[in-house]
Amino acid sequence: MMILDNYFPSPIGREEHPEWLEKMLPILDEIFRGPKENLRSDFYHNGETTYGKRSIHTEPQFAEFVKFIQERACNFLELQGYDSSRVHWNPSFFANSFRKGTTHPKHVHSQCTVSGIFYLQTPPGSANIIFHPNQPFRDFFDYMFYVKDPNNWWAKQNAVYTPYPGLLMMWPSWLYHEVPANNSEQPRTSIVFNL
Ligand SMILES: [Fe+2]
Repeated sequence: MMILDNYFPSPIGREEHPEWLEKMLPILDEIFRGPKENLRSDFYHNGETTYGKRSIHTEPQFAEFVKFIQERACNFLELQGYDSSRVHWNPSFFANSFRKGTTHPKHVHSQCTVSGIFYLQTPPGSANIIFHPNQPFRDFFDYMFYVKDPNNWWAKQNAVYTPYPGLLMMWPSWLYHEVPANNSEQPRTSIVFNL
C-alpha cells in the first residue's frame, strides 16, 4: 500500500472578527465618498482603491486596526513555527471598493511577508477569492495528467472562499490568488494588507 506523505503546505488563515465592522465601516464609507483625488480608479477595472494614493496605515484612524492585524499575523506565523519577533515588518494597507465587473487576476504580493484581507461589505453577487498552488510546473502537470476526480484532495487545483463581513484572511505573500469578476450591484468593500 503506497503511503502518500504531504509536505510544504500553503497555509491560508481565517478567523471571524465582526467586532471591527462597526468601527471600520464609517471610515471606509468616508474614504469612498470623499475626494476622488485620494482614490485610484485605474488600478482595478471598474473598482476604486486607495492603493498608491493614500497611505491609510499611517493615519491615526487606522492605528488600532493596524496593530490588531499585526498581532494576528504574528499568531499566524507562530502557529507555523516561525519566530514572529524577528520578522522585519513593512506594513502597507489599502481600502478597496469593487463594483460590478471588477476583477483581480492571479497574482502574488512582493516585498512583504504576510498578506491578507478583511471583508466589510459583501452584498449578493460578491466575488469569491480563489487561491492557486505555487508549485513550479503544476499547471502543466495538471493539464497533462488529466484530473479525473477534481474533488480528490491531492488533485485540488484551487481553493475557493466566499467572503462575508467580518471575515479576516491571511496567507504567505508568495501564494497565488485571484478575484474573478464581481457581480454585486452594491460595492464589495475590504481592507487589504501587506506586512
Ligand atoms: Fe492580492
